[in-house]
Order: sequence, then structure tokens, then C-alpha cells
Amino acid sequence: VPGEELLVLSNRQPYRHSDDDGDGITVDAPAGGLTAGLDAVMRQVNGTWIAWGDGDADAAVVDDDGRVTVPPGESDGQYTLERLWLTDEQVDNYYYGFSNRVLWPICHSALTNVDGNARFWDHYQGVNERFADAVVDSADPRSVVWFHDYHLGLAAEMVQDRIPEGVFCIHTWHIPWPSWDVFRACPHGREVLRGMLGNDLVGFHVPRYCDNFLRCVSAALPGAHVDWENRRVVHEQSVTTVRAFPMGVPADDINRQAKHPGAETFWRDFSDTHGIDDDTKVGVGVDRLDYTKGIPQRIEALERLWESSSQWRESFTYVQVGTESRSQIDAYSQYQQRVEDAVESVNERFGTDDWQPIVYTTDYLADEALYALYRFADVAIVSPIRDGMNLVCQEYVAAQQDDDGVLVLSDQAGAHDELHEWVMSINPHDTTAFKETVDEALAMPREERRPRMDALRRHVATNDISTWIRTIFATVDALREPTPKDQ
Ligand code: G6P
Repeated sequence: VPGEELLVLSNRQPYRHSDDDGDGITVDAPAGGLTAGLDAVMRQVNGTWIAWGDGDADAAVVDDDGRVTVPPGESDGQYTLERLWLTDEQVDNYYYGFSNRVLWPICHSALTNVDGNARFWDHYQGVNERFADAVVDSADPRSVVWFHDYHLGLAAEMVQDRIPEGVFCIHTWHIPWPSWDVFRACPHGREVLRGMLGNDLVGFHVPRYCDNFLRCVSAALPGAHVDWENRRVVHEQSVTTVRAFPMGVPADDINRQAKHPGAETFWRDFSDTHGIDDDTKVGVGVDRLDYTKGIPQRIEALERLWESSSQWRESFTYVQVGTESRSQIDAYSQYQQRVEDAVESVNERFGTDDWQPIVYTTDYLADEALYALYRFADVAIVSPIRDGMNLVCQEYVAAQQDDDGVLVLSDQAGAHDELHEWVMSINPHDTTAFKETVDEALAMPREERRPRMDALRRHVATNDISTWIRTIFATVDALREPTPKDQ
């Protein structure tokens, strides 16, 4: 992995500084597997990460160039974070607008949630230009520029336009790429495709998304030639290689934190508070409160389970951690309400003086607490309606200590393509089969749980975040032409 030559760009920053009501400045790491995973990489190399500075005290801690060294308070493994400031209008139209009201629903095939508006597109272009300008300011001919996700779909083409000698650009797209039949609903879809072709390498999490992307290019851009055999596109004299790089998690680190005494203390307190004793089976789900995550479908299946299988009443508790997300968008605030209502109705229906069927929390949980939940839960339920990869299911696997947990996983998550052999697969919309699968997972004998979890553990440990990075940079090395300095 190149060190100081690496420039990473994402909308979301890995650390946010907030003014804690006069009590000083606090730092937190935003929710979402993407930033956590990349932070682990950046700690190993001394690169620069450029992102939107969205915290209310971010400006107070940066130098004159908008830069700050992170993670705070550590001497090893630090890197530079450069913050870009956006106006409220830009945030409303670029982030809450084109990114999360157009591209996010389109890519998750949720067309009824698409909400277009001409201003969205203008600001999406404008902010992508800001990111491209920041690259031009920092890049040198040896730089590798690495864009992340759907917020920055146009930036690579803009960078190439601004640097005539060219710079090596990669874009990893962390959400699904839909079929052409869905993508053709995207306003300015052709421009987004052209923007992506400004990259030398485009990465998705699973091969299906690569094929979808290539089909979209071939259908939408008559001037582009798709070389299916080598999975690359030749467009206006430049070549874009398209590959699947299934993302992993920092498995060793998660495992170590899950066995820390602090994790055990958290679990003791948590289980005492919620009346969970050694005989209670525990299920866990951890999600951003996003309409793609299939939480109401999961609660519906659990309700059917408690309804039809009375042995699980008072003997199985489901813990749902929900992280507030993008709440200014109606589809998200309504979803939060829908989840809360569903939890309340199940708890009212089945709860007793000593037992709460669903423990629901929107509290921020530190890593150790989260990994404790994973470690002590007998079953994890990950049931998205559509998900680029999903790292929660891999974190659950990585946190296991006795290898006896069971993973119930939606066949609509990218991770399912990788893990399907050893998980209990569900279709989130098939409530009856979903319920039966959870029932089976809870009743599964240890002799069957063990080999499944052993295999999952091996897979997640081998294909961890470092493997992901190594594979991407091996591909970069193979594609990168020697620069004049190398010759
Ligand atoms: C998904 C996206 C990320 C995003 C994260 C959190 O994982 O792929 O790009 O950062 O959700 O969403 P947010 O809108 O809060 O950044």
C-alpha cells in the first residue's frame, strides 16, 4: 500500500469533533462500516483522507489548511484528515438530495423512494468539483487517489480533466449497482456513468454489481466499448477496469476487543438490567435505521415466532440496536417511527413482568459493548432487503469466542454471496420461512453450530480488511503504468 502517496476521499469523515455544550470538545466516530474499515487501513499508512467536516467543532481543531491529525490522543498509527466545509444548501442538495434521495434508493432498487429535484444535481456537481479541486491541490504524479461511494460519482472524471498528465484513480462503490432496468430511472445516470469512467479501477463488493455496471455502461454510453472477457471499458481513449473486491472487517482486532474483561462487564450489567439469565437465548441485530435494512420484516417474523412457538416466550430475548441515520429525510424518520411502533406492539403483546421480548436501544454503543453483544448473542439476525455487502454479519462472526453462534442472513446482502454455505439463509419478505429459520437457529444443536461457525470464522479471518486492501493494491500495481520517475 503506498504511504504518503495515498489520497482517500469519502463524504463521511472517520472522526467528528463536537462542542459538548461548553464542556469542551468531544470526538466520536460516525456509524457505518465503511469509515471504521478504512480507518484501520489509514492507521497503517501515512496518507491523507479528505472528507466533509460535518461536526460543530471540526473547524476549532484544524490547522490553516483545514487539516488535523487523527486518531486523537494516540501516538502510533496516525494520519492526516483534511476537512472540506459545505454550506447548508450544499448539504441539503448534495448529501440529503442527490446522494440520499436519488442514488441511494436507485442503487438499492427502491424506486418509490426516489425524489428528484433539479437543485440536487447542480449541487452534486458542485460538491464533486470541490473534492476534485482538493485532489488537484494535494496530488502528485505518483499519487493514488481513492474515492469511496456514491457521493463522489463525478469526481474522478473532474480530476482527470484538471490534471492533463493523469493520476491513478480508484473508486470503490460500497452499495449495490442495480440492473440497467432499474438504473435507467436515474436522472443524470449517463453523467454518473461517465464520471465513474474517469477511474482507472472501479471496485464493487460482488461480481453481480460489476456485471450490472458494465451492462449499464454498454446500454447507456454508445461510445464505450465493454470488453467482457477482461471486465474493462474503453471509453474516450481511457481504460477502466472493473473488479469485485469483497470487503472484510478487522477480524483480529474485533476478536481481541470482544474477549476484553470490559466486554464481559458490559454484558453482565446489560443482561442483569434486561432480565436475561444464563438460560435465556439471545438474538441480536445492529443496524442504521435505514429502510434497506429490513427491520420491520425481522420484527414481523419474530412476532410470528413468539405467536406460534410458545417455548420461546420468556426464554428468547431479541436485542435490536438502531442507529439514527439521515433523519431529515421523511422516508428515514417515518421508518424510525415504524420500527419503534413495531417493537412496542410486540412488547405489549407478549411481554410479562419478568420478560421483555425485544430490547430496543438507539444509544451509542462503544465498540467493546457492541462486540460484547455479538459475543454473547446465540443468534445474529441480519435481514436487509438489499445491502451492498453488510459488515455487521462479519463483525458478529469475528467476535465469537466459543464458535457456537448462528448467523441468520438475508440472501439480499452482498455478504451472502460469500458466506451462504455456512449461514441460515432467509428471504426477508418470506415471513413464514424467516420465522421457521430463526426457530431452527435457536434450536440448533451445538454439534451443528460449531462446524458452521468454525468455517465462518476462518473465512472472515482470512478475508479480512487487510486482505481486501492487499488485493486492491495488488490490482493497482498490476494496472499502474511505470511513471517517468520509475524508469
Ligand atoms: C453506508 C454507506 C456509507 C455511509 C454509511 C453511513 O454504509 O455506504 O457511505 O457513510 O452508510 O451513512 P451516512 O449517510 O451517515 O454517512
